[in-house]
Amino acid sequence: MSIRTRSIRFPAAATIRTTLLSAALLIALSTPSAGQAFPAPTEGQQVILVTGSTSGLGREVALRLGEMGAHVIVHGRNEARGRAVVDEIDATAGSARFLRADFASFAEVRRLARAILADYGRLDVLVNNAGFGSAPDERLVSEDGNEFRFQVNYLSPFLLTHMLLPLLEETAPSRIVNVSSLAQSPVDWEDPQIQRDFSGRRAYGQSKLAQVAFTFDLHEALQDKDIMANALHPATYMPTGMVQRLGVEPRATIDEGADAVMQLIVSDEIEGGQFFNQLEPQRAHAQAYDMESRRRLRELSERLTGIGSGG
Ligand SMILES: NC(=O)c1ccc[n+]([C@@H]2O[C@H](COP(=O)([O-])OP(=O)(O)OC[C@H]3O[C@@H](n4cnc5c(N)ncnc54)[C@H](OP(=O)(O)O)[C@@H]3O)[C@@H](O)[C@H]2O)c1
Repeated sequence: MSIRTRSIRFPAAATIRTTLLSAALLIALSTPSAGQAFPAPTEGQQVILVTGSTSGLGREVALRLGEMGAHVIVHGRNEARGRAVVDEIDATAGSARFLRADFASFAEVRRLARAILADYGRLDVLVNNAGFGSAPDERLVSEDGNEFRFQVNYLSPFLLTHMLLPLLEETAPSRIVNVSSLAQSPVDWEDPQIQRDFSGRRAYGQSKLAQVAFTFDLHEALQDKDIMANALHPATYMPTGMVQRLGVEPRATIDEGADAVMQLIVSDEIEGGQFFNQLEPQRAHAQAYDMESRRRLRELSERLTGIGSGG
């Protein structure tokens, strides 16, 4: 089921130095569709979108990518934290730009995707990392009327990924990394919006399983196009915002989680279509392999996001 895909290449150290020099001399300040000036990627510079990179795991991954010389599209809702991450990356070999979008709104996800399609000629890696945890233990509803975690953690990345696929295809070899979790709960097809027996844990787990099933679908659809798709559990209870809200003692470091995400972004040794527990492939929840469940999930997601109907 897995294929080998060429690795993502970052500039060698010498090229990074050149990039630094050219950063001072040659950075072209473009005017993006969002209206804010940003440093255009230099010739050959990798462009990587890390959703949810204003804090926690995504922030650490974004900083590491900046150090490797990439142009990082930093995303989240909090503009001040997003700009602080951009400033930190701008002090490295890389460059960055912040784009705001609330994943509880499909309109904002569409705006984010359109800004990227309008402003960039390449997208080497899409890291779907943004997420909302299991706390508070309360059924929340998105702007579009969906169960909140299902939309923020799964439906919005589904929509974003579909909208960005043409650019990933143009850039191939390229990659999609879906930051999921070992916390996976099956979708109840009688009640996918979890109207009954709600718990934050179940809602989070359902959204994370859906991400993995989506990854397997992507792999099957994209293996001939040289786009590698993988999902992972980065680490257990890293000291991030969502774990703090849950009130549990952290058990792993953000560095451990970032190592696992970075492997899926840069390693030449891995194959697509897999679920990783940190650095090692592992079997995901059985429902992620069930073709009938995958078909139902795909159809539900297309209907809810408008993908496939011109949405
Ligand atoms: N922490 C762990 O131990 C752990 C374990 C397994 C998996 N994970 C996964 O790792 C990923 C990163 O989480 P984290 O632990 O780093 O948590 P975090 O510190 O709470 O970060 C979550 C990120 O997602 C963004 N985000 C949250 N809600 C959003 C929304 N409605 N729209 C747009 N962006 C939103 C946040 O940005 P703003 O605040 O700017 O909106 C933030 O950048 C998640 O997918 C999570 O499920 C984490």
